[in-house]
Amino acid sequence: MKILVINGPNLNMLGVREPEIYGSLTLSEIEDELRNYAKQLDESIVLEFFQSNFEGEIVDKIQNALNNFDGIIINPAAYTHTSVAIADAIASVNIKTVEVHLSNIYSREEFRHNSYIAPKCLGQVAGFSKDSYKMALLGLYGMLK
Ligand code: DQA
Repeated sequence: MKILVINGPNLNMLGVREPEIYGSLTLSEIEDELRNYAKQLDESIVLEFFQSNFEGEIVDKIQNALNNFDGIIINPAAYTHTSVAIADAIASVNIKTVEVHLSNIYSREEFRHNSYIAPKCLGQVAGFSKDSYKMALLGLYGMLK
């Protein structure tokens, strides 16, 4: 089972960026934890990680996932609240996708309460810091296996 894990803009700054909101781990530490969790869940899960600060690169990556990945976990970061293009890309490839957020976007500023991406996804996990990614993987695995 091949799962693509996409992280959007400014998530490469984790560890430095607003640690009171996003925690103190770097993105590569979060990815390592998720890799270990996946191994415990099922040895046959293969994760590929991708981070970009560019909307078009994320769209390209989702399009290229067609026929290459069984599922997608995505933290679209700020593009969650703005990107029709990423939402359309997910709908186009029809790959089972879960949206993830480190923070609880519904307890923050009003502009973070809307997601263009979530309606195209199986579900959304928000507010559990790095564990949001693990919960997303568990849910996606349950739907794919
Ligand atoms: C985020 C929430 C977004 O609103 C924000 O723009 C981010 C991170 C999260 O993981 O909590 O960059 O997606």
